[in-house]
Amino acid sequence: MDSLVIFASGTGTNAAAIIAWTKEQNRVLPAGRQVHVSLIVSNNPQAGVLEIAKREHIPFLIIDKHTIHEALLIEQLQSYNPALIVLAGFMWKIPPGIVHAFTNRIINIHPSLLPAYGGKGMYGHHVHTAVLAAGDQESGITIHYVNEAYDEGNVILQAHCPVHTTDSADTLAQRIHQLEHFYYPRTIEYLLGRK
Ligand code: GAR
Repeated sequence: MDSLVIFASGTGTNAAAIIAWTKEQNRVLPAGRQVHVSLIVSNNPQAGVLEIAKREHIPFLIIDKHTIHEALLIEQLQSYNPALIVLAGFMWKIPPGIVHAFTNRIINIHPSLLPAYGGKGMYGHHVHTAVLAAGDQESGITIHYVNEAYDEGNVILQAHCPVHTTDSADTLAQRIHQLEHFYYPRTIEYLLGRK
């Protein structure tokens, strides 16, 4: 059984797509090879992703930047023995201690073609607004390993989409989300060696 831990701060549509994928997988895989989301971690007590966790009966953990005890969190995460820690719209920089404890096991999705529109302050709609303001004709997504620097870990996959002159940040975000929901589960499948 492969365990996934998801970190998310917002609505959680990517988390929902990954959970749906695990259910699909488990329909076709033999019992010993099953995959499940064993824990959802959020820094936002109001995050929509927590409603998803409750609905899916997945344990969740709310962490607070000011009171976080890194060693305890690492211990707690290790107790779930995650094959991968999946950042799905998680808006904090992962502390170096956690990156080291799970080297090459933390992946992130970013809603642009990194290195463009990465770094501090570049997340969610801020990215789409910047892409539109620059007049770019294409955008896309990047799935990458997480290291100590924001949005700079090794790239695993990039997928592109057009930007239309009629786009708003919302319509571009929808197109980006479609790419994310398609590619994030498939990338996890690939990394778990199920392809
Ligand atoms: C996604 O578009 C993801 O790429 C972005 O947040 C959104 C979360 O959507 N992540 C970042 O900007 C990280 N820098 P969701 O809550 O619906 O999955």
